[in-house]
Amino acid sequence: MPVRLPCDPAPCPRRDLPFTVADVALRLRDDLTSLPAYVAGRTVPGAVKLASNEMPQPPLPAVLDAIARAAAAGNRYPDIAVTTLTARLATELGVDEAQIAVGCGSVALCGQLVQAMCAPGDEVVFAWRSFEAYPIVTLVGHAKAVRVPLTDQHVHDLDAMLAAITPATRMVFVCNPNNPTGTAVTSDALRRFLAEVPDDVLVVLDEAYREFVTDAAVPDGLALLADHPNLVVLRTFSKAHRLAGLRVGYAVGPAELAAMLRSVSVPFAVSSVAQAAALAALDGLDELLADCAGAVSEVGRMTSSLRSLGFEVPPSQANFVWLPLGERSSEFAEHTLENKVVVRAFAGDGVRVSAGTPEEVDLFLAAAGSFPR
Ligand SMILES: Cc1ncc(COP(=O)(O)O)c(C=O)c1O
Repeated sequence: MPVRLPCDPAPCPRRDLPFTVADVALRLRDDLTSLPAYVAGRTVPGAVKLASNEMPQPPLPAVLDAIARAAAAGNRYPDIAVTTLTARLATELGVDEAQIAVGCGSVALCGQLVQAMCAPGDEVVFAWRSFEAYPIVTLVGHAKAVRVPLTDQHVHDLDAMLAAITPATRMVFVCNPNNPTGTAVTSDALRRFLAEVPDDVLVVLDEAYREFVTDAAVPDGLALLADHPNLVVLRTFSKAHRLAGLRVGYAVGPAELAAMLRSVSVPFAVSSVAQAAALAALDGLDELLADCAGAVSEVGRMTSSLRSLGFEVPPSQANFVWLPLGERSSEFAEHTLENKVVVRAFAGDGVRVSAGTPEEVDLFLAAAGSFPR
């Protein structure tokens, strides 16, 4: 359907232009009019932000130095092949360089995966509720989103997801631990699932929160790659590595798929500053992981305190907790905001609260304690 852009009623001051806004009839994509918006966690001056699953600490000092050095050469294009970081990741992860594709955050790789795998009308299966980018990248990639409800324990229903696979299915996202519920599927359950998924369906195991997992029953996706040629694992530098603002993530999977992900990428998608920061963060990994342990302990404290206040809180393996408050979700978020804490409400469903510093968590727990029930 041709869409006529709104006409500016004021006379056009640039009569030398070949056309005015009123003359333009662009054919925008009809199917994107229902595209859900990605709602970013709000930053409210004076309030604590526990809304985006970021780490509360800034990048490590050595990472800031690396950022400054890279920024000084910011007049030059970055290494388009992300050579040094890819080689370093290959060594750290014990995989072949050819198996890795680095992207502008793992969310960009989610989109590249759909582009690499799906023709118009193909189906992409994912749990719901899960990471809010999945339906967006699916629709933008001309594919059809198939949402499979979580169990009543807020965990992926892998049997139902298997049952949702049809001949049109090209991809299945499994978010482990799941954003926003924090729940995780076990190694046994995932292995059973992988054994049943048809060989020509790609399983995307999104492990954005891997560094916060403490339960040994939750699998490390990289260990499953050798047995499953239809598996790809997504990781990010945005959470444990504290580089959410710099945008680096990566996919590890079959070499042919990684090559395709690189070829559908926007050229130079990973800036030189991001590449340098990610490398320096890998040098400081022990220190970063120690702070992840701090976040895990705050998640434990939030979980037990909230439960003793009478809230339902599913067990979390990530750096956030989920409060399935249903219709009261937005009201809860408004209440914490009045108490200077920004959380992330999913209207009608639940509220996600990221671990902050102990002081920030104290502030949040005081706000939760005064929520009228
Ligand atoms: C499950 C999941 N995957 C991917 C991402 C995206 O991470 P990135 O910042 O690398 O794009 C997020 C970010 O919140 C996430 O929660």
